[in-house]
Amino acid sequence: MTISFDNAAQVLTPPEPGLPYLRTRRAKELRLDPGGITTENGQITKLESTADAEIQIDATGCALLPGLVDCHTHLPFAGWRAQEYEQKVTGVPYEEIARAGGGIASSARALRETPDEDVLTQAISLATEMLQHGTTTFECKSGYGLSRDGELRSLKLAAELDETVAQQTTRTALLAHAVPDGYTADTWMDEVEAMVPDAVRGGATALDIFVESIAFGLEHLDRMGTLAARHNLHLRAHVEQFSTMRSVPIALRHNARSVDHLATIHPDDIAPLGKSNTAAVLLPGAEFMGKEATAPARDLIDAGAIVVLATDGNPGTSPIFSLPMIIGLAVRRYGLSTKEALLAVTLNAAYVIDHADEAGSIEPGKRADLVLLDSPSEHVAYRLGRNPVAATFVAGEPVYVRPDAAWRIMKR
Ligand code: NIG
Ligand code: FE
Repeated sequence: MTISFDNAAQVLTPPEPGLPYLRTRRAKELRLDPGGITTENGQITKLESTADAEIQIDATGCALLPGLVDCHTHLPFAGWRAQEYEQKVTGVPYEEIARAGGGIASSARALRETPDEDVLTQAISLATEMLQHGTTTFECKSGYGLSRDGELRSLKLAAELDETVAQQTTRTALLAHAVPDGYTADTWMDEVEAMVPDAVRGGATALDIFVESIAFGLEHLDRMGTLAARHNLHLRAHVEQFSTMRSVPIALRHNARSVDHLATIHPDDIAPLGKSNTAAVLLPGAEFMGKEATAPARDLIDAGAIVVLATDGNPGTSPIFSLPMIIGLAVRRYGLSTKEALLAVTLNAAYVIDHADEAGSIEPGKRADLVLLDSPSEHVAYRLGRNPVAATFVAGEPVYVRPDAAWRIMKR
């Protein structure tokens, strides 16, 4: 099956093929030129349209982007925590809510009490929402299990989600998210060490940890780094979200694939992070919803960092699953250009979850995961809160078409 995307106002393409990532200071080298592309049997084959394709897509006035990649979500989870949000906005700090049994612990209780089928139903409906917002690849994390069985169940549910949804997904074992009742951080890390082989069998490709005054410490991050190396997994870490812990040097020593949050990163840690291959995953949804500090994105970019944006979709700090919304928040909050923001939710995000060889950019040989916006890409941030996605394609299949855009797809 040949599909031709014709006459787009903008097609986002990388400066050269085969890049594993692009340091954000080079984002201006991305091209957003008018044109078309051709896909065949689920793959991108040509960076030009084809006159006699079986399906012609009229992309007049549209931006054609690679499918968006959300490399940091906490799917699957059970229920929501709207009441906590009200507490937060009226002045109760997140750490205090957490210490009183709310936060992660309350989502852990909800997950424990919710049958598999209902957890999956909620996750599938969020994945559908993500498709409508252009996300064609996303990461799932465990982390609300807070017991050996609970964590492995989360990974199993994530695997079932993967089989059900249109998107490609990956699994990260966030085995150190909060210290479960009856454990200290140290004794829980002993459990973590024992369960990693099962997490690997459950399809995890990365280990993750929350380093914070209310969670785990630097020595636990160090231990998680050693475990990740031993099991050939990527290390990822939630760091410097609320307080400056100086986690970044330790994460770099373990060659972490990413450090995520960074709202309170120490200024001395910016240059080494910028020189490394560890991605800086910024989460403006959590920053905005939690009235957190603002990550120093421009300093990170100037230092050479591989900057990434993600939703952090979770029931607590960021109940946001729309990457267009995240782009809008990031552009205003961090002072990013459109190209910098687009790079951060495409190629660089794919790098974080090891999918850059098949997704994250429009280039021949990659899977035809594509998003058609009904406007030029500069409008994504500018018309904040409006969903610009007209259609989403996974492996060349139109998996979401907004009714008013259906006329654009013409079968011969
Ligand atoms: O990435 N910071 C730790 N973990 C999540 C929040 C989890 C929750 O509040 O449920 C985050 O923000
Ligand atoms: Fe997170």
